[in-house]
Amino acid sequence: MSNTIPQRVFSGVQPTGNLHLGNYLGAIKRFVELQDTFDCVYCVVDLHAVTTWQHPVELTSNIREVTAAFIASGIDPEKHIVFNQSQVAAHAELAWIFNCVARMGWLNRMTQFKEKAGKDREKASVGLFAYPTLMAADILVYRATHVPVGEDQKQHLELTRDIAQKFNNDFSDRIAATGCGVPMQVGDETVNGYFPLTEPVIGGPAARVMSLRDGSKKMSKSDPSDLSRIVMTDDADAIAKKFRKAKTDPDALPSETEGLADRPEADNLVGLYAALAGTDKASVLRDFGGAQFGTFKPALADLAVEKIAPIADEMRRLQADPAEIDAILKQGSQRASAIASSVISDVKEIVGFVGARG
Ligand code: TYM
Repeated sequence: MSNTIPQRVFSGVQPTGNLHLGNYLGAIKRFVELQDTFDCVYCVVDLHAVTTWQHPVELTSNIREVTAAFIASGIDPEKHIVFNQSQVAAHAELAWIFNCVARMGWLNRMTQFKEKAGKDREKASVGLFAYPTLMAADILVYRATHVPVGEDQKQHLELTRDIAQKFNNDFSDRIAATGCGVPMQVGDETVNGYFPLTEPVIGGPAARVMSLRDGSKKMSKSDPSDLSRIVMTDDADAIAKKFRKAKTDPDALPSETEGLADRPEADNLVGLYAALAGTDKASVLRDFGGAQFGTFKPALADLAVEKIAPIADEMRRLQADPAEIDAILKQGSQRASAIASSVISDVKEIVGFVGARG
């Protein structure tokens, strides 16, 4: 047993269709960047997708679409692990244990459940309520130390840390007795824990991409308006049209970022430009300060087409050969299972189940 938990990145994307620029800039592009520094596990979270109704035929196609987006964006499925969640049973097994560690009160505070369940909570699936414990299991079944996500997932990652900490506390004697734990620093104390307290990796100019129709709402797969989002498969005309119709205010762009305060739509478009160009908002405003949206929007559309079109082309090429995608997922699932099954057998031993060690 090694005495430190190796650094590892885990993240996931739901195969629920309409993969958009927020998913790409807030998450997938950053997954690609982390590959040089960390061992990474990237997951198409199909078990999460079915917490709301998914047509089976569309679900299959959406799983392949997210996989294609990962690879077309530059994730290397040979060096790192790309797979779909349902094929590694340990996610669901650990989620059950975490359902018994997490408290109802913790889950009741989750804002995403409130948003997704809407007014009629009684009709939401039990899975939608328990969604965050499965997410904690996704991460911790690899004992992942870093999780890149958009800002909307921050509360779920805080819950993941709470679950890890409670598990480590509840079972501290047993973790010591089984020799599975490692010394870890929690505040001023050194404790002997099993699960790491995962670090969220959130940031950059596109951590929270907003709707193109309403700067107070995040860009989302489920917004009824197609004009609210750029999807990865939009062609150049659709991208230009959506930016042309994007809501803005009548003023010119400011020269400094302070001037974006109270201008959510302008702030969003400048953030998108910065993320696409791989720079920051200040530098975009150095180039475009004083410009009207009539000038800035076409420049933004051109940049988006330049960056997105090659990815969309490669996604289409990959999706034309589903067998190739399925083979990538299969070998990824086997590699993921090898890591996850050793963690789940440690957990079963820690909890006290008979037969955990084979
Ligand atoms: P999902 O599928 O909704 O979104 C995938 C990723 O895209 C990010 N994102 C955004 N980033 C910036 N601006 C936006 N408007 C925007 N919309 C979405 C999300 O933050 C996410 O990083 N619960 C997760 C999936 C998941 C997961 C995990 C993530 C399941 N298990 C374990 C990390 C670790 C979700 O619903 O993502």
